[in-house]
Amino acid sequence: MKTFYLETFGCQMNVHDSEKVIGTLVGQGYAQVETPEEAELVLYNTCSIRDKAEQKVFSRLQQFKKDGRGKTFAVLGCVAQQEGEKIFEKAPHVSMVCGSASYNKLPELLVQLETGHRRVTGLSLDTEDTFETPLTRRDNPHRAYITIIEGCDKSCAYCVVPFTRGPERSRTSASVIEEARGLAAAGYTEIQLLGQNVNSYRDPSPAGWDFSTLLENVGRTPGIRRVRFTTSHPRDFVRAIVDAIDQNPALCNHVHLPVQSGSTRMLEAMQRLYTREEYMRRIEWMKSARRPIAITTDIIVGFPGETEADFDATLALIDEVEYDSIFSFKYSRRPNTPALALGDQIPEDEKGRRLTILQERQRAIQIRRNARYVGMVEECLVEGFNKATGQWIGRTSQNKTLNFLSVGASEELAGRYVPVRVTRAGPNSLAGERVN
Ligand code: 5AD
Ligand code: SF4
Repeated sequence: MKTFYLETFGCQMNVHDSEKVIGTLVGQGYAQVETPEEAELVLYNTCSIRDKAEQKVFSRLQQFKKDGRGKTFAVLGCVAQQEGEKIFEKAPHVSMVCGSASYNKLPELLVQLETGHRRVTGLSLDTEDTFETPLTRRDNPHRAYITIIEGCDKSCAYCVVPFTRGPERSRTSASVIEEARGLAAAGYTEIQLLGQNVNSYRDPSPAGWDFSTLLENVGRTPGIRRVRFTTSHPRDFVRAIVDAIDQNPALCNHVHLPVQSGSTRMLEAMQRLYTREEYMRRIEWMKSARRPIAITTDIIVGFPGETEADFDATLALIDEVEYDSIFSFKYSRRPNTPALALGDQIPEDEKGRRLTILQERQRAIQIRRNARYVGMVEECLVEGFNKATGQWIGRTSQNKTLNFLSVGASEELAGRYVPVRVTRAGPNSLAGERVN
């Protein structure tokens, strides 16, 4: 039996790609094993969004430089696409380098490896396809990812994604709806629609659906109780998305809308294609919705040229929006990106200082926001049980973690939807008790 081990780094797109890759490998007669030591074929599905993420794969490969004999190594994903054949120089024991836009070629590349080819590559970005396979091995029994669009046609000055995932291509609405129905029939109750920029989804079939129409229709799939989507780009985020969420409780009341900076001057330098005011208009749509919509974001500090005043504008923005949570990062210089050419780099320790200030400010906002839930009853999808605390782990429609006690009940709750009364709130999660 041929064996493989696969480790995934990076975003949900990568996690889902790995589910498809695993299915493809199993389809080719491979068996998955739990450790790289046991495996003949070791694959890393990589991320290059920041330098730290990229370094991870090289440190993994380094571990096997000497004792990797007899094994075959493959680098997949964003570092594969970005570094290409240079990976063979940095890590000569690697035999396969393949970017996500070439995964349709995986079966062919595997056969080449098995028939003795020393080095095989899939590095073309010139494709109109997305990678779909009926063999996908989903990791979670209740929540399923569906890719609706791949690649990105924007050119944010800091971002590698257009270079690692190629141009935008959308799947037909019919194939998305069919996949959603199949997942419901297989017992999944939550669907997460995925794309680097889901808002620019455009059905290539004559139906011509836009993203909000697709979202509405996926939300009407019988048996599907929750639909999420990620990631949104403010430029393409339209009011119809908020209206759809307002009208259908199956669409989760959570929107992740990356802002990156609160300063219009920085947004322009970042080539984000919107101003602070335009972004705030989208926030207003959500705040004036009938349902309480949780809002989360991504922020970069220390982009080249960011002044103290620009940074203050970001702090003021998070105070104004009152995000439910944020992901925040120090700017990292990436190969090929337009921002490489910019002068006025911010020193690392200054980026660190700004990041700490931002995160502390946001922590106070989260403590305040989460306190509002105390006393309320929220429906949770139960994800599992924490033996150490004796609590079940649930997730609300707003994507908040709600840990709860289920007194007197001994039945399995994972995968079920249960009402929970919130009794305590912290900055990063809620705690409560199940109600009947
Ligand atoms: N440096 C730091 N953060 C980055 N991101 C994307 N590129 C970079 C970079 N070069 C962040 C953005 C994006 C998130 C996924 O990662 O905030 O929304
Ligand atoms: Fe990382 Fe971006 Fe690639 Fe996802 S698309 S794996 S975040 S570089």
